[in-house]
Amino acid sequence: MGDAIAVRGLVVNRGGRRVLDGIDAAVPRGSVTGLLGPSGSGKTTLMRAIVGVQVIAAGTVTVLGLPAGAAQLRHRIGYLTQAPSVYADLTVRENAHYFAALHGRGRAEADRAVADVGLADAAHQLVNDLSGGQRSRASLACALVGEPELIVLDEPTVGQDPVLRADLWARFHELAAAGATLLVSSHVMDEAARCDRLLLIREGRLIADDTPDAIRAAAGVDDLDEAFLRLIRAGESGGTGREAA
Ligand SMILES: Nc1ncnc2c1ncn2[C@@H]1O[C@H](COP(=O)(O)OP(=O)(O)OP(=O)(O)O)[C@@H](O)[C@H]1O
Ligand SMILES: [Mg+2]
Repeated sequence: MGDAIAVRGLVVNRGGRRVLDGIDAAVPRGSVTGLLGPSGSGKTTLMRAIVGVQVIAAGTVTVLGLPAGAAQLRHRIGYLTQAPSVYADLTVRENAHYFAALHGRGRAEADRAVADVGLADAAHQLVNDLSGGQRSRASLACALVGEPELIVLDEPTVGQDPVLRADLWARFHELAAAGATLLVSSHVMDEAARCDRLLLIREGRLIADDTPDAIRAAAGVDDLDEAFLRLIRAGESGGTGREAA
C-alpha cells in the first residue's frame, strides 16, 4: 500500500530563514507516529507542508499517493492546528455538525466525535464560554469528525488532564487500528512512548526516525526523555548518542 506520507529532501524557508533543511521521512499507514522536537524546531511547519498549506523551497511531499495539497486530498485529511480553530459563536455541537457536513458526514458522526473527546456534557455550550482545554478538544472533535484516512494533530493534548490524555491516546490507537494514519506532535515524553514510531527533529533536521524501543537502544538508555537529550546533544557535537552521555 505504500507509506501514508513520504517526504523527500524537504526544504522550507520562513521569515527569510531556513526552517526545514532537507527532511526525509516516511510515515507508515495504520500507525500512530509522534513528531517530537524542541520549540521552534519545525514541527508545525512540517505538518503544514504535509497538509499542503506551506510554501516549500525544495523537495517533495507525497500524501496518500498524491502531491501534498492536491484537491482530492481535502476530504481525506483531518488537521488540528496548534491554535484552536473552531467558531467561538457556535456551540460545540454546531461546530462539529458544520465540519461533518464539509466531509459529507451526518449528525450522528458529529455527536460521536464530540463524545469521543469528552465533550458530550458541553455539547450545547458556545465555544466562547469553554475553558482553554475544552476549546482545544472541540477543535480536535472537528479534526476527527470526517473519519479521515490521515489525521494530523498539532499538540492535541496540551492543557488536558492525565485521564483525558490517556482517553485521547486510546482513541488515537483505535483509529489507527481501524486503518487511519495519525501524525501527532507533542512535547510530552510519556506520550512519545505511546507512539508506534517517532520522528525527532531539531533545528529543521530529522535526527531520529524509529520506534521508541530502537531510539532507547540507540541512545543506550531506557528513559525516552534522556534518550532524546542524548540524541540532541550528539547532534550538536557531531557524535553518537552514547558518546554524548
Ligand atoms: N509565520 C512565520 N513567519 C516566520 N517564521 C516563522 C513563522 N512561523 C514559524 N516560524 C519560524 O519557523 C521555525 C519553526 O517554527 P515551527 O512553528 O514549525 O516550530 P515548532 O516545532 O512547531 O515549535 P513549537 O513547539 O513551539 O510549536 C521557528 O524558528 C519559527 O520562528
Ligand atoms: Mg508548533
